[in-house]
Amino acid sequence: MYMWIHPVLQCSAVLLSFYVLYLGWVRFAFAHLGRTGVVFPWKMHVLLGGAVLITWCLAFVIGLGAAWWGWKSVFITGLHYQVALVMLPVIIFGLGSGLYMDRFKARRAVLPLAHACANALLMLLALCQLYTGILVLRDMVLG
Ligand code: HEM
Ligand code: HEM
Repeated sequence: MYMWIHPVLQCSAVLLSFYVLYLGWVRFAFAHLGRTGVVFPWKMHVLLGGAVLITWCLAFVIGLGAAWWGWKSVFITGLHYQVALVMLPVIIFGLGSGLYMDRFKARRAVLPLAHACANALLMLLALCQLYTGILVLRDMVLG
């Protein structure tokens, strides 16, 4: 059973990230494309974005724990753990830049763009994780 905690948490966070991206897109369209008449749900974006990035981080550790518990070894899933290691610093940047812009509100152009790029990259990497994670489930958990 415990082998499923990590996949379920990570899949839920991947789903939620699409909504967070949609909320961020509203801000992007306002700030860079000059779209008016839309309100960026700032607090909701911060809350749900934080939930996604913290889940990706915590469930990283849970995945390692499950691997250790189940297989008595970690870093054995090839591309899955390698991409996870690449994600870690990007998650820290996405979360850090978001928290900073939330704490110190100001007119900015570069930091919001860097934040958007980092988090969009994270979503692409998370989709790779979804694919390789399903292979790990098929071959190493169920197989
Ligand atoms: C989205 C970001 C994700 C990150 C950062 C991540 C990270 C990790 C890490 C670090 C491990 C330990 C691997 C090892 O020691 O070799 C792991 C294990 C595992 N991951 Fe992921 N993963 C993610 C998403 C997913 C998804 C979406 C799935 C399933 C569809 C999945 C399925 C698994 C499975 C089955 C394991 C074996 C341990 C367990 O079942 O808990 N992962 N993951
Ligand atoms: C999956 C996670 C996330 C995605 C995909 C995402 C995406 C975006 C995007 C596309 C923008 C618009 C950037 C622009 O206008 O150039 C944005 C803005 C913003 N995000 Fe996020 N974000 C995520 C997580 C977070 C987190 C965790 C926080 C805070 C803890 C956060 C706080 C903010 C803030 C405060 C802005 C407005 C910045 C400004 O215009 O001054 N975001 N985000």
